[in-house]
Amino acid sequence: MSQFTRLVPRAARFSARPVTTYRYAIPAATGFKRSVRGFSSGNPTRFPASGPPETSSEERSDSGAPALGTPKRLPEFNLANKVVLVTGAARGLGLTQAEALLEAGAIVYALDKAPHPSPLFDSIQTRATHDFGTALHYRQVDVRDVPALNALVSEIADTHGRLDGLIAAAGIQQETPALEYTAEDANMMFEVNITGVFMTAQAAAKQMIRFGNGGSVVLIGSMSGSVANRGLICPAYNASKAGVIQLARNLAMEWGEYGIRVNTISPGYIMTKMVEELFEQHPERKTEWPKQNMLGRLSSPKEYRGACVFLISNASSFMVSSHLACGC
Ligand SMILES: NC(=O)c1ccc[n+]([C@@H]2O[C@H](COP(=O)([O-])OP(=O)(O)OC[C@H]3O[C@@H](n4cnc5c(N)ncnc54)[C@H](O)[C@@H]3O)[C@@H](O)[C@H]2O)c1
Repeated sequence: MSQFTRLVPRAARFSARPVTTYRYAIPAATGFKRSVRGFSSGNPTRFPASGPPETSSEERSDSGAPALGTPKRLPEFNLANKVVLVTGAARGLGLTQAEALLEAGAIVYALDKAPHPSPLFDSIQTRATHDFGTALHYRQVDVRDVPALNALVSEIADTHGRLDGLIAAAGIQQETPALEYTAEDANMMFEVNITGVFMTAQAAAKQMIRFGNGGSVVLIGSMSGSVANRGLICPAYNASKAGVIQLARNLAMEWGEYGIRVNTISPGYIMTKMVEELFEQHPERKTEWPKQNMLGRLSSPKEYRGACVFLISNASSFMVSSHLACGC
């Protein structure tokens, strides 16, 4: 029996009912108490961080080494039966990452403010059911609507009795010179890209803690969180992505004790609708931008498939507070 299951009564671990404020002691001798609202946690101490799964006996050769030619090679990448949320998954990077997670076996919920996902969604949903034996669901939610977000994430976790992962990819972009930026526009940027990401991660972490299996949270930052791209005039966006990268480090530091790992992926330019819209206004960038990175080209959403499966899965079980910077 794990440490968590010993500490928390079964009813509290699997109850679909919301659980009221619970106070727990900090494991180290810090001499103060914190309260966590809205979910149950065990008294003190650390949750077990799930390690990489053992290779099963069927997958081993006579010598005991993992057998070759089995569909279960590299089992630590296997996401079968894991429940993962992806925000911003109506299209673009989020939808591509949702597809990768499905291929690795996860049950995926795409969360987005758009009333309907892109036309691609339906074919991915069909593949999920027919080719991978799993499921892709769509739920409309605005990440700024915190009560709705919490209710939805809690409902999803209740449905499956678990929540294992989150990719927080919902984000907005706005190009306006710093001297002209309005406070309203800056606040909107930070509300979606920082507070929205923060509240999504918090909603997911509450459920991960409630069910006691740990989990993996991946925040989508950007290379623009670390550099000011020449000729890309979006001060608030860049500041918001710097905020996401630093937010991840803090969440990782706080939630490691629950077995929740938090990491960031910071893509370089990706050819998605977000970038296509910028190219419509500034066609010269189509030729200029590829010259500005080491590989001399822009990336495509599928080039982040591996990174997201890696970070959500046990393949990265000891990776925390890291920042995968891509193509800068
Ligand atoms: N495209 C790039 O070059 C690039 C580079 C680095 C990082 N990123 C980041 O990757 C992520 C995905 O970008 P993309 O290029 O796929 O963009 P996209 O515009 O194609 O997709 C973003 C999705 O987020 C959703 N969204 C926006 N605001 C929301 C809200 N308030 N609540 C819920 N959903 C909301 C949108 O409806 C959309 O479906 C973003 O966080 C973006 O900042 C993109």
